[in-house]
Amino acid sequence: MCGIIGFTGRLDAVDVLLHGLAELEYRGYDSAGIAFFDGPAVDTIKTAGKVQILADKVERNHPKNIHCGIGHTRWATHGGVSDLNSHPHTAGQVTLIHNGIIENYMHLAAGMAAEGIYPVSQTDTEIAAMVINSFYEGDPIEAIRKAVKKLTGAYAFCIMFADRPGTIYSIRNGSPLVASHFKDGSVIASDMVALLRYSKDYFVVPENHIVVLTEEAITVEDLEGNQIRPEMLHVSWDVSAAQKGGFPHFMLKEIYDQPEALRNTIMPRITDGMPDLTQDGIPDELFTGCSRVILSACGTAMHAEMLGRNMMERLLRIPVSVEIASEFRYSNPIVDDKTLLITVSQSGETADSLAAIRLVKERGGKTLSVVNVKGSTIARESDYVLYTHAGPEIAVASTKAYSVQVAALYLIAFHWARITGKCTDDQVRALVEEFIHLPEHVSEVLSHDADIKAISQKLIDCHDLFFIGRGLDYALSCEGSLKLKEVSYIHSEAYAAGELKHGTISLISDNVPVIALATQKDVYAKMVSNIREVRSRGAMVIMLTGYDMPTEYGLCEHQIRIPKCSDIFAPILMVPILQFLAYYAAVGRGLNVDQPRNLAKSVTVE
Ligand code: G6P
Repeated sequence: MCGIIGFTGRLDAVDVLLHGLAELEYRGYDSAGIAFFDGPAVDTIKTAGKVQILADKVERNHPKNIHCGIGHTRWATHGGVSDLNSHPHTAGQVTLIHNGIIENYMHLAAGMAAEGIYPVSQTDTEIAAMVINSFYEGDPIEAIRKAVKKLTGAYAFCIMFADRPGTIYSIRNGSPLVASHFKDGSVIASDMVALLRYSKDYFVVPENHIVVLTEEAITVEDLEGNQIRPEMLHVSWDVSAAQKGGFPHFMLKEIYDQPEALRNTIMPRITDGMPDLTQDGIPDELFTGCSRVILSACGTAMHAEMLGRNMMERLLRIPVSVEIASEFRYSNPIVDDKTLLITVSQSGETADSLAAIRLVKERGGKTLSVVNVKGSTIARESDYVLYTHAGPEIAVASTKAYSVQVAALYLIAFHWARITGKCTDDQVRALVEEFIHLPEHVSEVLSHDADIKAISQKLIDCHDLFFIGRGLDYALSCEGSLKLKEVSYIHSEAYAAGELKHGTISLISDNVPVIALATQKDVYAKMVSNIREVRSRGAMVIMLTGYDMPTEYGLCEHQIRIPKCSDIFAPILMVPILQFLAYYAAVGRGLNVDQPRNLAKSVTVE
């Protein structure tokens, strides 16, 4: 949700900023801009539209010998999509970029107006620049210190002061920032992917600390002026992991990354054929001491939790609920010291998911997060964290992150069932034996890419479609439907197959596509009846089934079978098929698959 980058040093800063913005564009692509020291002057170039439009504009302006600057790619919140509302914003001596929302900006703007000072844009960000400028009397740190006392809301700022060429100041509260000093200078950004060209070693900017970047060094101090040394982190993947690797889109590449991502997530947590979370530092007491489990997340991560709940309740026989994080936090939830909140998040920065964690901690519950991004806020604020190892996920629509989230929740369930004696060692061993071979089966599913692409062509021209399924298949339907909507803009709904007849079946008419997921043997006969119901009303049915499900004549137009597996693992083998359907439908409609309209990958606002 807005990507920010700052660089100062020996390299061509404009080049660093534009490259960084291209890497960060997944965070928002309504507008983009850069500001830089051109000699003693601060110049700004910004525009509505994508980073490429900015790059073209920059090219026409030919800035030369630039060594310090800041850049921003925006996901609009306050103020429409326009050149004027694009970042950077300048007020007096201050030029800044911002990721987050200043919640009290109206109040602050009223205070400024009383003094006859008015913003030129409609953004909360410009007000923040005005507040910092109002405190600036030659000491940037003092001005920032005073200004942040006035600001409420979430922010990550990179700030340049006109009379401090070559220096970037930064502070964050809630919104992410990472930074790195390397041989050619200092760089700071919303996400590690933008630093990777320069360094694999970085630190997470601590909240409410002022960071000062110069060519020679980065210093970090708290609001009382005490310098600190942040803990350095190291990324194990290299720059190629964040590139398309010959695929036309990141989404397709990331669909194909799934076997490896699953292997990397599962295998380090298996010892002698049994789940083992000791290297994650998660104590058994976390599970044995809890009587209620709440799974909370947003979007795709929440859909992964729907599968996780099913697995946990199945094996553990304790109540597990799935809560939409944005609802949970305002629902006055019942939480006690025997409650465990499990939060799933790819980015580790989702504002609503983070708020749920804070609420549960406040009320005495325990928190465990399943997170893909090392050192992210959710990871750091949870009592315990289990990292998924999907590698960087760049396409806005989540694919590989979902598979590994499901795998991680399954692992937790297996481990929990074992240590509480809900399953015998032999039962767990049998589950794990099949589980560790899933990556190979996923590869087999991926080899049917071309067949699935052919079927997806049937979806390109439709306006509405339905996904139906029962149990685990229903949970997976929710993700299949979301994926399709996100990237192809085709309206779709996921329905519990048995519920369709209670209203929604009125929308089924001739040739309306229905994607029926039917992998669960215990409800297969019921699914067949539900499919018959839509068939008899003219639906065009695409059926996804297990390897050995009997097929009746005329039941569906198309059928795709997944490789042999136990029913509980079917969703992990099925999900690439749904991802392919969404991907190829979107490509067929000529859409920008990796950056669907209006979306952002990391949602750091409520
Ligand atoms: C956004 C993204 C989704 C993602 C959701 C949760 O809405 O567009 O793809 O599932 O946030 O993100 P998280 O990083 O917490 O998994």
